[in-house]
Amino acid sequence: MKPAIVITGASSGIGRELARVAAREGTAMVLIGTSQPDLDNLAAELGRADVPAQAWPVDLSERDAGQRIEEKLTQTGVYCDVLVNCAGFGVFGPAAETDRDQHLKLLDVNIRALTELTLRFLPGMIARHRGGVINVGSITSSAPGPKMSTYFASKAYVGSFTAALAAEVRGTGVTVTCLCPGVVRTAFFERCHVGKTWLFKLAPRGNALAIAEAGWRGFRAGKRLVIPRLIDRIIVTGATLLPKSLVLWLVAALMRPAGD
Ligand SMILES: NC(=O)c1ccc[n+]([C@@H]2O[C@H](COP(=O)([O-])OP(=O)(O)OC[C@H]3O[C@@H](n4cnc5c(N)ncnc54)[C@H](OP(=O)(O)O)[C@@H]3O)[C@@H](O)[C@H]2O)c1
Repeated sequence: MKPAIVITGASSGIGRELARVAAREGTAMVLIGTSQPDLDNLAAELGRADVPAQAWPVDLSERDAGQRIEEKLTQTGVYCDVLVNCAGFGVFGPAAETDRDQHLKLLDVNIRALTELTLRFLPGMIARHRGGVINVGSITSSAPGPKMSTYFASKAYVGSFTAALAAEVRGTGVTVTCLCPGVVRTAFFERCHVGKTWLFKLAPRGNALAIAEAGWRGFRAGKRLVIPRLIDRIIVTGATLLPKSLVLWLVAALMRPAGD
């Protein structure tokens, strides 16, 4: 069995850039998302005869997704050496007025699939004393998010889960890292229709490749938490130090339509 880097959310945005950065290491790649053409294009770009890149379309909201991924890895003759959980999306709008199924699907992708894949592959990494996990969280993990309640809460879970695992694996030769970007230029905001808010208008936007490079570098350096940009480290510190009521008011204000 040969090692492979398994990346979810590889068809777009930060995940695609993480795949490009990880491919520089010359390890086999498994690229997961739902958009087959985008995955195929990336696999063609990154794959080499000696170091293949495979495109696996998998809907991570489906209950058997983790099992199917593990079985296919075994059939392909590779094991998950590094797992990058980047797939995720947001639902914008008051919780009581938005589609319940979409919120539950968000939890399935942002939390359940991330947790299941981590729990499936982490024991093997620990046994081999190598590899690790990058979970893509967000600076939203440091505040509650009116109008994006489940998304902010899902990222709080990712941050907490990942920090705890990082402590558990210390000294095993395995690294577990939470990559926490602020606002990044990707399809994310169009997809959840958050576009006309003050948040989108005012927030300084990062570049997905720079975020991916910082995340991968931090992971290889054994860091538990990577918040790539200074402005985002300041925002997280502010959200942690300010009274929760003020943070809630600020986030709610940022989520209002720009121009109100
Ligand atoms: N953009 C930001 O400002 C920002 C900030 C902080 C954190 N993040 C986090 O970064 C991660 C990547 O987001 P992005 O900004 O790069 O957005 P993006 O361009 O929309 O990428 C989202 C990725 O998640 C995949 N995905 C979504 N639902 C899926 C499902 N059911 N099954 C399989 N894959 C699924 C998408 O695949 P398909 O398109 O093929 O379905 C796509 O590859 C997310 O976890 C997001 O929460 C983003």
